[in-house]
Amino acid sequence: MASAAPAATRAGLEVLHAGGNAVDAAVATALALAVVHPQAGNLGGGGFAVVRVHGEVSALDFREAAPAAASHDMYLGKNGDPVAEKSLVGPLAAGVPGSPAGLWELHRKHGKLDWANVVAPAVRLARDGFVVTPRLEKSVARAAKLLVRFPETAAVWLPGGEPPPAGSLMKIPSLAATLRDYGEHGPEAITAGPVAAAIETVSDRYGGVLTVADLESYRPVWRKPVFFDAFGWKVASMPLPSSGGIILGQTSGLLERTNWGRTPRFGAERTHLLVEAWRRAYADRFLLGDPSTTQAAESDLLGEGWLDRRARELRSRRATPSDKVRSWKPSAAGESTETTHLSVADGAGNVVSLTTTLNGSFGCGLLVPGVGILLNNEMDDFATAPGRPNLYGLIQGEANAVGPGKRMLSSMSPTIAWRGSETVALGSPGGSTIPTVTVQVLLNLVVDGDDLQTAVNRPRIHHQWMPDQIVVEPDALAPETAWELERRGHELKPRKQLGDVNAVRISSDGTVEAAADPRGPSSAGVVTPAPGT
Ligand code: DON
Repeated sequence: MASAAPAATRAGLEVLHAGGNAVDAAVATALALAVVHPQAGNLGGGGFAVVRVHGEVSALDFREAAPAAASHDMYLGKNGDPVAEKSLVGPLAAGVPGSPAGLWELHRKHGKLDWANVVAPAVRLARDGFVVTPRLEKSVARAAKLLVRFPETAAVWLPGGEPPPAGSLMKIPSLAATLRDYGEHGPEAITAGPVAAAIETVSDRYGGVLTVADLESYRPVWRKPVFFDAFGWKVASMPLPSSGGIILGQTSGLLERTNWGRTPRFGAERTHLLVEAWRRAYADRFLLGDPSTTQAAESDLLGEGWLDRRARELRSRRATPSDKVRSWKPSAAGESTETTHLSVADGAGNVVSLTTTLNGSFGCGLLVPGVGILLNNEMDDFATAPGRPNLYGLIQGEANAVGPGKRMLSSMSPTIAWRGSETVALGSPGGSTIPTVTVQVLLNLVVDGDDLQTAVNRPRIHHQWMPDQIVVEPDALAPETAWELERRGHELKPRKQLGDVNAVRISSDGTVEAAADPRGPSSAGVVTPAPGT
């Protein structure tokens, strides 16, 4: 198994050792991340999981939902312009958390160990303490300006006004108590009673609209995954309200139609075709939103007719300007933020691919006092003003406008792919870059036959229709490839890092391996499963 933090990976491995299955381990890891990786791991956020248990593949949507009091223009200022501060900072930016009911539901349906045993490692980490990593210290320091705005948060995460120093032991007694109650009573320990009341009270204090009724009425939803074929492999990824599966399916469908697998691996033509496929997939993303309001059906965007038509446009040896694919005004790109992905496989062939987030690093910055949970700022994933860019520079349409109870469109792409008895599970953080990062690792595996770690390590690129530029990691493009792409009309923009993939693979002989991304603080580990698991 592989996750973003060694202590969380250890929690998952411990549960596998104890006879738990992949689902038990994934839930234990996600909860441990809520303690040791508070930038993204959470109980006050949400996520998605694609799972294969006893051969059956399904997808759990535990994405946050807009509170009942949310409205279309709630993030606009007096002049009608969006006020980013409102959808990013403080509890007005928070969607109704999906993780408490979501992780519980995942375990209820597919777990093997007792619930309390799955929650136990996280309780221990919060109660007895965990060692602060240099990365955590740095992340807190980077977020300090946000965290210091809420004394409730600063009291925990900026003790004495400073980030907890690397190497020190961090205990969070309030979170330990919440987790303990969650382990004893399930989600109602958080979504009802005194904890829910505390969430409503602190939200109200800072101008939020979350209520106990919102928390009580939230339900995770089992959905049919997006299934598609990719170069001889079967793939399952996340359906709406994530755009991830559709973008992955469109990318692969378009590339298959261009003979992409036979173009020279590191040449300009391959990169060009990949970028042109993404440009079109992200342009179509403009039509997507909550399943109840989406303006394009998955079956249409992934249908033969649409893919054939789009594929015909790809052949040109010139970049298609993005506003020719769908017209809109480009604007500034987003900032760096935090999400986290974990992948687990067990000895019985069960697999979990789970991505979870608070959206921005430490979410909206507000920690619920006495409860220890940080609230998300996922509301910014809505088109707070349709047609204007969000945190990730994504331009989104009316289908993703704010509305009560709606789930904001995501890019998270937990994915499972298999061919015969071989299986891989993978995913990444990175906001709008998640689908492009994930599909590149997948293509490295299924088209080029890389081993798992190599597929994860390879440098990456990204394009998201708007802004119309190819974002390029160091060494991702040879100089002559870069030159040829520019000649074809592409603009290149360097970026230090794209994504942080955690992946696992079951080989045809049954061997399980795990790969963590060298870009992140991630950690991978394998246990020999006990007989019968
Ligand atoms: O759901 C989404 O697409 C975003 N809220 C994910 C945020 C994210 O990946 C931040 N990570 N680096």
